[in-house]
Amino acid sequence: MRSHYCGDLRKEHIGDDVVLNGWVHRRRDHGGVIFLDVRDREGLTQVVFDPDREESFQLADSCRNEFVVEIKGTVRARPEGTVNAEMPTGEIEVLGKGLVILNKAETPPFQLDEHQQVGEDVRLRHRYIDLRRPEMQDKLRFRSKVTNAIRNYLDDNGFLDIETPILNRATPEGARDYLVPSRTHEGSFFALPQSPQLFKQLLMVSGFDRYYQIAKCFRDEDLRADRQPEFTQIDIETSFMDEEAIMGMTESMIRELFQNMLNIDLGEFPRMPYSEAMQRYGSDKPDLRFPMELVDVADLMAEIEFKVFAGPAKDPKGRVAALKVPGGAQLTRKIIDEYTKFVGIYGAKGLAWIKVNELEKGVEGLQSPIVKFLGEDVAMQIMERLGAQNGDIVFFGADKEKVVSEALGALRIKVGEDQNMAQCEWAPLWVVDFPMFEETDNGGMTALHHPFTSPSCSAEELKANPLTALSRAYDMVLNGCELGGGSVRIHDQSMQKTVFEVLGISDEEAEEKFGFLLNALKYGAPPHGGLAFGLDRLIMLMTGTDSIREVIAFPKTQSASCMMTEAPGEVSAAQLRELNIKLRKTP
Ligand code: AMO
Ligand code: AMP
Repeated sequence: MRSHYCGDLRKEHIGDDVVLNGWVHRRRDHGGVIFLDVRDREGLTQVVFDPDREESFQLADSCRNEFVVEIKGTVRARPEGTVNAEMPTGEIEVLGKGLVILNKAETPPFQLDEHQQVGEDVRLRHRYIDLRRPEMQDKLRFRSKVTNAIRNYLDDNGFLDIETPILNRATPEGARDYLVPSRTHEGSFFALPQSPQLFKQLLMVSGFDRYYQIAKCFRDEDLRADRQPEFTQIDIETSFMDEEAIMGMTESMIRELFQNMLNIDLGEFPRMPYSEAMQRYGSDKPDLRFPMELVDVADLMAEIEFKVFAGPAKDPKGRVAALKVPGGAQLTRKIIDEYTKFVGIYGAKGLAWIKVNELEKGVEGLQSPIVKFLGEDVAMQIMERLGAQNGDIVFFGADKEKVVSEALGALRIKVGEDQNMAQCEWAPLWVVDFPMFEETDNGGMTALHHPFTSPSCSAEELKANPLTALSRAYDMVLNGCELGGGSVRIHDQSMQKTVFEVLGISDEEAEEKFGFLLNALKYGAPPHGGLAFGLDRLIMLMTGTDSIREVIAFPKTQSASCMMTEAPGEVSAAQLRELNIKLRKTP
């Protein structure tokens, strides 16, 4: 067994006899002496083998990358001129006296320091090798420290860690369920939890008062860089605390975490109503590192000839907005074309622009494909409203409100990143005052958060004006990423029924799906509320990576499969028979 980790050896160990266990990171033959860089989870140490110890010298010579070895030797100072200041162990080396090859390794599919040359698919197929890379080890170690710190914080604040089931009825969080067929109940299915939402509420009814769980959640939804089909939440629920208290406590947790782990003071988080976030930033998770804002100009456009703008300007569900990019007049045609394509992803049909060359010359000083359609008055009024200056570019979006907000909101971030316009490194905030419901494409309504979220108004008001009603929900946003979200819940059975009713869920359906919740609310449910953080996203942000796949040991691909185990896989005919499942051949 090892006496020390390779990466832990320092000057003070000089003269010590040590036993190391690890992997051969590199073997170098320096004319007569063999150097093995031996790696374990704590780092690398250089081990030197002299020819005078014939047997271990020969063994060292036969080592190849990724062989697993045990080394006995003595720590010594590196000879003058060979100290490596870049390496934590760079002042010492180990004089190898004994070597055991514990296991050989074939040439790995990629060398650890050449991982960038291979595609992510190769890394994921051989994740066990990819995870040997020091960066990956650091990230997973960091993740472990974060969960430990969070457990300590919550434990110190009286939270109990309680597990909830994985084989469930469906809980509606808005995504598709992963289903598991039941063998003992023919034709019935379990759903894997999209979150422990209903169970944590029931734990409040049971009087546990403060619950948390680091919980696996499953959602069969379209994947992106910050979404996985299987991910982890820091799930929290409390009784007798209102939104102020819940936000206060969870904000303290995140601030303490950043302070202790990264030595960063996030400061007090500002609050912003949802409507303001959408209006100024075109997003319910605004990235406040970038100063640019969307400015509405529909009132100036309603009467112009240019239908592309006048149409949405007059449409109550339309929006016409401008985004000024300071210094953007130098953007080339090619880049503007790229941005036009980019906003197309969000459904924008074009991206009009005005370059402000010489404002003092009036409309003559503006360069744009649309100025001629706007007319001098309107063009100059827009410039004034935006506070445009020479050298700026102004982009325009005109369409349905959702399209314009999403397109310009995303463009704002893209331009901000491309042009390095971030004004700070960290920009946290709470988004509050969410609407209870949003309209679906087919004219129905869905809960913006989930249907257990308490409205800010009475049941009567909710029924009368469901689309303008606000909820007691809150999201924590950091650098444009939704880190967590939660709400004060409905604890009153009749209010819960009203919400189901507004959502068009019939009494029978509500009874069938949520009867247990409605019953529980009858028997003394305390006022309660909580929140869940996306742990993977938190670690992604804290480690400065741009995909949550980089901070999950064994992530899934964009198509929700595991490259390594090739899950999901086929099952045998016998298993299907047992489950009474017959596969339909897709034509
Ligand atoms: P919500 O659906 O907002 O709320 O999820 C909470 C947080 O979980 C993270 N998250 C994800 N992370 C990775 N991959 C995904 N597919 C994914 N989906 C969500 C996000 C998000 O903010 N039960 C409620 C919480 C509550 O009301 O207490 C819930 O699940 O960071
Ligand atoms: P067109 O008249 O279609 O050639 O468009 C003139 C300019 O307006 C071009 O720069 C288009 O990219 C832009 N444009 C077209 N439709 C829209 C829209 N819905 N929103 C913003 N700009 C648009």
